[in-house]
Amino acid sequence: MTALRSMDAYRSYRGLPPLAGLATITEASRQGLGIEACVTRLKRYHYALVRLHEIFTARITAEPIYELKTAFSHQAYLCAEHVEAIRTRVGEMREPPLGLEVVPDPNLEIAFDEILAAPTTEELVVAIYDVALPALDAALSRHLADTNPLADAPSVRVCRFARLELADMIAFGREAVACLVGDDAKLRMRPWSERLTAAFAAAGGLDGTGTVSPERVPRLYSAKPFVYDPVPQRDERFTDLYNQGVNAEAFLYDPAFPDRAKTLMMLYKRIREIDVPEMMASIIVETKGKPWRYYRDMSRQLWDEARHAMMGEVGFIANGVDWSLARITFNWSLRLNTECTPIERHAVLYFIEQGLMSKTGKRYEWETGVRSGDPLMATIQDYDWADEVLHAAIGREWYIPQIGRWKEALEYGDQCWSKIVSNWTSVRNQGLTDHENWWPELYRQACASWGVEPEPAALAFHQTYENTRADLKVVSASG
Ligand SMILES: [Fe+2]
Ligand SMILES: [Fe+2]
Ligand SMILES: [Fe+2]
Repeated sequence: MTALRSMDAYRSYRGLPPLAGLATITEASRQGLGIEACVTRLKRYHYALVRLHEIFTARITAEPIYELKTAFSHQAYLCAEHVEAIRTRVGEMREPPLGLEVVPDPNLEIAFDEILAAPTTEELVVAIYDVALPALDAALSRHLADTNPLADAPSVRVCRFARLELADMIAFGREAVACLVGDDAKLRMRPWSERLTAAFAAAGGLDGTGTVSPERVPRLYSAKPFVYDPVPQRDERFTDLYNQGVNAEAFLYDPAFPDRAKTLMMLYKRIREIDVPEMMASIIVETKGKPWRYYRDMSRQLWDEARHAMMGEVGFIANGVDWSLARITFNWSLRLNTECTPIERHAVLYFIEQGLMSKTGKRYEWETGVRSGDPLMATIQDYDWADEVLHAAIGREWYIPQIGRWKEALEYGDQCWSKIVSNWTSVRNQGLTDHENWWPELYRQACASWGVEPEPAALAFHQTYENTRADLKVVSASG
């Protein structure tokens, strides 16, 4: 009682907030978690975020729904950043960071293996957003309640930042589940979602503060190990997936065509970038044993590519254009994922992105956007350019040293891309596409929305990708 009374009597200078605003004196007087308990918990959040990063990434390619593909791209990146933050924090706590790769509890592993192996989109979103993320958020919230807010302020900061983004992810997920999963489906998957909850409980909760069970929760979907599916899937708004009927670069670099019309080709190139996350996910999933910063940087790039696709989506909508008129092919991601090794894919990606750094690359697209008079186009291209410069730097850091010198690495990328010979004729002969020229209809729709007449020469454009590697040997296709 004496101690409490003296604490109550304590006054900071002129009533200023004490303790740098971290907490009250009373809050900072509790014993809280010792270093060992704190690190043990941090390692479990770390494990959960590593697994969530893995799950989001591994499910990007074969997830058909574009809104989920892009959200998984974003959320994988967020998880990667929080993993990095926790690793740094653990490394500050008299702990060699080595112990971070240890599985903290077999039932925790079972829970995340089950989610990774969820057989349908419905089960996946329920497991992630109704079970796993709320469990992680509850654990972080408990950490804030249990630890000493002054002594453990660096961990508190890491947990608070993580919770901020977890709240966004959970809010997105709750809406997604409401849109995609009916009551019947929820009822059908209840035994499985209860099994997941049981696995978390058997692990003593995500943070291990509950009673730990010696029994292992039986596996259902993960009884057979998960196999990554490299074949990209798209939802029903994406049709004619092998179409290579409109050579966007040929139009974009032809000085005869008007800048305003070129913005539509740039928007097509932006939304087509959705094939990059589909491809990069395969590199990340199939490349093991790299330092965490590799996965963080690659996930950042993957997310940027998804963001560029969404900038294209927004640009089309803002111009009154139905983007599904464009045939947003998956030919590139499908072929790289199924015909190349991970390092070959990375080589192709680097080669393409290096090409974007030339005078005819991203600067040209931005200048065209500015000249078009559409301020949104200028913004889209400005940020697309900046991101692509970052990607070239990421390639320099993580790809080039795997091959050798810059020149060799670039040549290797060129060779790897040349390996993928054009399938223009074969996909047409197989009846997979007629390479329909979708451009005139899309251009007409934009002109109607702009209140102008289509320009005849631009309307008549009909150059395809037949016999042309998509970079015209000079300029780049994806990117
Ligand atoms: Fe990029
Ligand atoms: Fe890109
Ligand atoms: Fe881009």
